[in-house]
Amino acid sequence: MSNDQLTDLPEWRALEDHKRATENLHIKTLFDEDPNRFQTFSVDMPGLLFDYSKHKITDETKDALVALARARNVEKQRDALFSGEAVNVSENRPALHMALRGSCDKALEVDGKNVEHFVNSTLQNMQIISDKIRENPNITDVVNIGIGGSDLGPRMAYKALKPLADGPNIYFISNVDGSALHQRLHKLKPENTLFIIASKTFTTQETLRNAQTAKDWLLESIDKDALGNHLLAVTANAEAASGFGVNEDHIFPMRDWIGGRYSIWSAIGLPVAIACGFKTFKAMLDGAKAVDEHFVSAPLENNIPVLMALLGVWYRNFWDYPAHCVLPYSHDLREFPIYMQQLDMESNGKSVTQDGLTTNYATGPVIFGEAGTNAQHTFMQLLHQSHEIIPVDFIVTAKAQHPHAAHHKQLLGNALAQSKALMEGQEKPDALHHNFTGNRPSSTFILDTLDGYHLGVLLALYEHKIFVQGALWGINSFDQWGVELGKTNAENIIKSFDNKKITDNFDVSTVGLFDHLAENL
Ligand code: F6P
Repeated sequence: MSNDQLTDLPEWRALEDHKRATENLHIKTLFDEDPNRFQTFSVDMPGLLFDYSKHKITDETKDALVALARARNVEKQRDALFSGEAVNVSENRPALHMALRGSCDKALEVDGKNVEHFVNSTLQNMQIISDKIRENPNITDVVNIGIGGSDLGPRMAYKALKPLADGPNIYFISNVDGSALHQRLHKLKPENTLFIIASKTFTTQETLRNAQTAKDWLLESIDKDALGNHLLAVTANAEAASGFGVNEDHIFPMRDWIGGRYSIWSAIGLPVAIACGFKTFKAMLDGAKAVDEHFVSAPLENNIPVLMALLGVWYRNFWDYPAHCVLPYSHDLREFPIYMQQLDMESNGKSVTQDGLTTNYATGPVIFGEAGTNAQHTFMQLLHQSHEIIPVDFIVTAKAQHPHAAHHKQLLGNALAQSKALMEGQEKPDALHHNFTGNRPSSTFILDTLDGYHLGVLLALYEHKIFVQGALWGINSFDQWGVELGKTNAENIIKSFDNKKITDNFDVSTVGLFDHLAENL
C-alpha cells in the first residue's frame, strides 16, 4: 500500500475534483436548502447522538469519502485489527485493546497464549484488589505514578467519573519535575498511602525516578517489611517491578499487545476501579464494547467512527486544515482534550507509510482543546474569525452530574450557540470588525449522561476514528519512534550532569545550554 497509490487512486482524485466543485458552498445554505439536513447527517446509538450536519459536505461528499474508505479496504483492515493480526508492523505485534473489553474471539491466542484467559484473570484480580483497597480504612490515599498512556487515561477517566467516586483519594504524579511529587508528599502520611507504579516497560525514566523517591519517602517512616503493602505495579516487566520491591501478588501484568495510549482498559485503569468501584470500571468496558460492536457491524455510511475519520481526512487532506479542536462542554471531561492529544498525535503523527515510504499527503492534525465554556474565553476568538479554519468536536452530556440545573442549561446553551455561530457567522457590511464569514465546521456529540458506560462509548469512538484514519493514510498508528528518540537523547544528557560535561557529540547550542545549566544548577 504505497503513498503513490493513495493520491493516485481515482477515489482520491474524485475527492479533489469534488472539493474544487464545492468549495464555495456555505454550510448555512445547505441548511436553508434542506430542512431534513439534521436527520440526514446524524446517527445515534444507545447513549449517544452524533450530529455531523454542520459540515461542508453534501450527499456526494459523503459518497465520495466512503468510496475512498472502501478503496483503502478499511473494513478488511478493521477485521485484521480485531482478529489479532500484527497490525503494528514496526514492532511486529497486534493491537488488541478491544480484547480487554471482551470484543475479540474467545479462542484468540497471541504467542500461543489465550487472550481471553489473561483478560478475565486480570479483571478478577482488579476486582479483588480494588475491593480490598476500598475496604481498607488504613489506605486513605492512592498515588498513581506513571506517564503518557500510564497516566493520561486513568487521570482523565478518574476526573470524568469523580462525581461517582466514593473510595480513597486518588492523585496522579507524572512529571519528573520534583515539584509534582514534593508538593503531594507533603500532604500525605506514609502509613496511609499506596503507590501504584504504572509503567508498561518499567524502564520509563520519569516514572522510575518518581517511584524511587516515593519508595525512599515510605522507607523514612515505615518498616522495610511493610513496604510491599504500600506498593502496587502495573507492568509487562514483572521482573523489574519485583526487583524494585513490589510483592508478586501486587504486580498486575500487561501484555505487548496493549499499547500504552490504549491501556486505560487494562489494569492501568485501576485508579478508576479503586475510586469508583469495579462496577464503574466494568461499565466503561461495556460502553466501549458497544462501540466495538457498532464499528464492526454498522455499514460505513452509518458507522460513527468511520464518519468521524472521513470528515477528518476531508478537511486535513482536501481543505488543508492543519488542526482539530476537541471541546467538551463539561468540567468533568476537562482532561479529555489532553488525553486526545496523546491518543491522536502519538498514533497518527507519522509521515512514513507501513511500506516505509514518505507520504506525499498530510496525516494526523494538531489536536488541542479545552473544556467549555472556559475555551470561549481563551482561543475561541481565533476559531471564529481568523484565516485558519479549525473543525471542532463539541461534546456535551444531556444530563448533569450535579443538582444545579440552571448551570447545566447555561452550559448547554453556550455549546449550541458556539457551533451555530461558527457555522453561520454574521454579516455586518458597515462594521467590518464584526464580520464573521462563518462556514466553520463542527460535529456535536450528545452523551445521555457521564458515567462509566458513556465514557467508555466516547473513548472507543475516538480510538476507532484514529485507527480508520491510520488505515486510510496507510501508516502504523501503534508505534511511536519519535518519542523513543527523545528518550535516548535525554538519557545521554542526564548522565552528563554528574561530571558537568557532555561527553557525546552534541551540537554547540545544546552544549552551550548544558554548560550554562551545569554551572548554575
Ligand atoms: O509517551 C511515550 C510513551 O512511550 C507512551 O507511549 C507510553 O504510554 C509512555 O511512554 C509510558 O510508557 P510506560 O508505560 O512504559 O512507562
